[in-house]
Amino acid sequence: MELADIDLCDPENFVAGVPHEWFALLRKEAPVYWHPDPDGQSDGFWAVTRFDDCVGVNRDYEHFSSAAKTSLFADFDDELIEQQRMMMVNMDPPMHTRYRRLVSKGFTPRMIRDLEAKVVVATDAILDSVCEQGTADFVEQISAELPLQVIADLMGVPQEDRHLVFDWSNRMIGADDPEFQISAEAAGQAAMELYAYADQLCEVKRLDPHTDLFSVLTQAEIEGDSLSQLELDMFFLLLSVAGNETTRNLISGAMVAFFDNPDQWERLRADRSLLPSAIEEMLRYVSPVMHFRRQVTSEVTIGGQVMAAGDKVVFWHTSANRDESVFADPDRFDIGRVTNNHMAFGGGGPHFCLGANLARMEIRVMFDRLLDRMPDIHLDGEVQRLRSNFINGIKHIPVAFTPSAPLG
Ligand code: HEM
Repeated sequence: MELADIDLCDPENFVAGVPHEWFALLRKEAPVYWHPDPDGQSDGFWAVTRFDDCVGVNRDYEHFSSAAKTSLFADFDDELIEQQRMMMVNMDPPMHTRYRRLVSKGFTPRMIRDLEAKVVVATDAILDSVCEQGTADFVEQISAELPLQVIADLMGVPQEDRHLVFDWSNRMIGADDPEFQISAEAAGQAAMELYAYADQLCEVKRLDPHTDLFSVLTQAEIEGDSLSQLELDMFFLLLSVAGNETTRNLISGAMVAFFDNPDQWERLRADRSLLPSAIEEMLRYVSPVMHFRRQVTSEVTIGGQVMAAGDKVVFWHTSANRDESVFADPDRFDIGRVTNNHMAFGGGGPHFCLGANLARMEIRVMFDRLLDRMPDIHLDGEVQRLRSNFINGIKHIPVAFTPSAPLG
């Protein structure tokens, strides 16, 4: 295997699994690697793969802009970039700082704590819906359902509408996978429907506020400044995508990691106090978000490599989290790993995941309930992965377990 064999652009190369052997080679031989564009259509990009360098890019927003060309891999035209910039992931300080201060008002630890009882009820209802059958598609029936219900609850979307929101956000992403592929027109239509729905929801919340996120955000004000309707719509869109895909694929990916490492499942069953370290290990090992993109604003050196203004940079969380100079035996799934300062939620920069503690809580509740209610859950067919170099995703996991009565 040589550097020239590596192609991180083609999503096909991620279908069989994350190409960890490529990332290991890059970390060893070319940790800041100029990756050519395989089609020769554009200039190529810097692939940053070592932990310290990824953290460096993530934190240094002055040299590495999220707004210039967005934080996404694809190269958009100016009009699309302009639209994307309305989402906070594609903003730089000071605009990002202002927006983040306002939306954080609705994201307090107290709100997350208050959601926990609902998350337990939702998880049990999800497991109730399949427990008598003894078989399930773990993704469609279990892991996709929980984040969807939780995000709906958090945002104040009535449960009966949650599949609408899910359908719109699904139509707007996953476009690299033939199973979810739709035209740009249909994606645009989905976006319009989602915005119209968000407008309506905010209107309801203004008239009849409760404790949910959008009730809080429609009222949120800092020094006379508040969020415009367009900003509220964009946050609604971001949350529907950011809170669903990521958590779902973490739960799915971790389930498969346990199937591949049954000793770790038994270890957790025997000692539930390992759950906190197990969750961090699931996050490190799975890394549901595999990369983000930045654009160099002025000449800068990372990992001894000089980058010029205008260069495209892609830093790989999935590789940083397997860096052998930071994590001992990085390819081992070890739920008791003691030092585990992974970057699955980002490397501590201004964009650090706003939903990190909510996601951790959902993962904890789900695995706690699975260990209690389906202790012998096992793989019962073939895992089908998502065709994407962005989300480490799984589409289907057939599972089987001893049938049991619903809790009701
Ligand atoms: C396992 C689940 C999750 C993973 C792995 C994950 C990962 C990430 C990553 C890598 C970032 C970028 C961080 C950076 O560049 O520094 C991010 C940002 C973000 N995440 Fe998450 N996320 C998860 C769950 C959630 C949930 C449940 C929510 C919301 C309910 C959420 C909302 C957000 C938002 C709003 C941002 C943008 C923050 C900003 O730009 O300032 N995420 N997430």
